[in-house]
Amino acid sequence: MARDVHVIDHPLAQHKLTLMRDRETSTNSFRRLMSELSMLLAYEVTRDMPMHEKRIETPLEPMQARLIDGKKTVFVSVLRAGAGILDGMLEVMPSARVGHIGLYRDPKTHVAIEYYCKLPHEIDSRDVIVVDPMMATGNSAVAAVDRIKESSPRSIKFVCIITCPEGLARFHDAHPDVAVYTVAVDRALDAQGYIVPGLGDAGDRVFGTK
Ligand code: URA
Repeated sequence: MARDVHVIDHPLAQHKLTLMRDRETSTNSFRRLMSELSMLLAYEVTRDMPMHEKRIETPLEPMQARLIDGKKTVFVSVLRAGAGILDGMLEVMPSARVGHIGLYRDPKTHVAIEYYCKLPHEIDSRDVIVVDPMMATGNSAVAAVDRIKESSPRSIKFVCIITCPEGLARFHDAHPDVAVYTVAVDRALDAQGYIVPGLGDAGDRVFGTK
């Protein structure tokens, strides 16, 4: 089993995930649920952010108040399904920087092939949160983090909605230093590389392409 895995067991998160899994859930509802779920994930993944104190004045008196420390966080969305999580995360942290990595999965080998990469500048002094709803084989997650590590960020965390034991094992073999935040660790991977029971193809369900 993998090393640093945070399963978000909060009832609101589990409830929303169940609605997303249901094949009868419409594209509109699926997209809204993914955005809401991502806001809950954002709270968890940023829980240990460093803070500093600043003296401010409320309308009643001065006080020492806390603010998030350091340069802005970077969200890196793995195209295309990562866009569904990114929206919710940006609701909670609207001034975060955003990068994109485009990867597609070779249908036969399931190897992740990069077709696009655009990351913000000065990533070496920033904390990166990679978002991709399904960590299935783990190949895309490993490829995305390989690429991001070339820019030497201060830290990297990985956020998904569902993963499985095979994906976690592969990911943490390659990147034991990167914590994974997820709402569920499902039973397994099927022969086509889908997570079961899962929720189907996350990209198709977010964008209504099937
Ligand atoms: N990608 C998906 O969208 N769903 C899966 O089950 C696996 C990979």
